[in-house]
Amino acid sequence: MFLSTERLVVRRFRVGDAEAFSGYRSVPEVAQWQSWEAPYSMEEAVKAVEAFAAGDPLVPGWFQYAVDRDGVLIGDIGVNLHENLMQAEIGYTFAPEYQGQGYATEAVRGLLGLLFVERKLHRVSAECDARNVSSARLLERLGFRLEGLRLSNTWFKGEWTDDQLFGLLASDWPT
Ligand SMILES: CC(C)(COP(=O)(O)OP(=O)(O)OC[C@H]1O[C@@H](n2cnc3c(N)ncnc32)[C@H](O)[C@@H]1OP(=O)(O)O)[C@@H](O)C(=O)NCCC(=O)NCCS
Repeated sequence: MFLSTERLVVRRFRVGDAEAFSGYRSVPEVAQWQSWEAPYSMEEAVKAVEAFAAGDPLVPGWFQYAVDRDGVLIGDIGVNLHENLMQAEIGYTFAPEYQGQGYATEAVRGLLGLLFVERKLHRVSAECDARNVSSARLLERLGFRLEGLRLSNTWFKGEWTDDQLFGLLASDWPT
């Protein structure tokens, strides 16, 4: 386990998560903002979950954290640690039935605490499609600053999309 919050545990992925993972990645409203297409098969999920379970959060590159509520996988948070080990980018996905209840805020806040306080990161950034209001609201709730808007910057699922850029500094994080 990496950390626990009032209602959640943030832990390493395990093989038994594949079914829930495939379930929420297969929801079209979830996949529309992410790199994969729905449905997301069990075969893909097993492969991904095995790779996540074997990952190392302390080396550069993406590491996927599992978010668990009472033993059920409800979402995940990806952290892409920079080569310099001092900054990272984050991304997140939560199952629709667990959205709108503050779980993403609680889990991402817990993880930011670990990244800033224990791992001493200097900066965390995030990007989202400018139409992804839920994601932007989540970042703003957590104290991220809107740093920019890149118009028509990403060719994504058959169209040019606008990207909102967000950043949060260790000096902004409450100690
Ligand atoms: C982005 C995403 C994680 C946000 O999830 P979310 O459910 O809106 O975020 P939270 O779990 O923090 O819930 C916040 C909402 O719950 C409400 N809420 C209810 N109880 C709450 C509580 N105890 N604490 C905090 N908020 C609570 C808040 O008011 C807020 O609602 P609002 O946005 O209407 O104001 C989710 O929409 C998602 O997984 N989307 C698909 C994947 C995706 O787009 N990822 C990001 C790509 S950039």
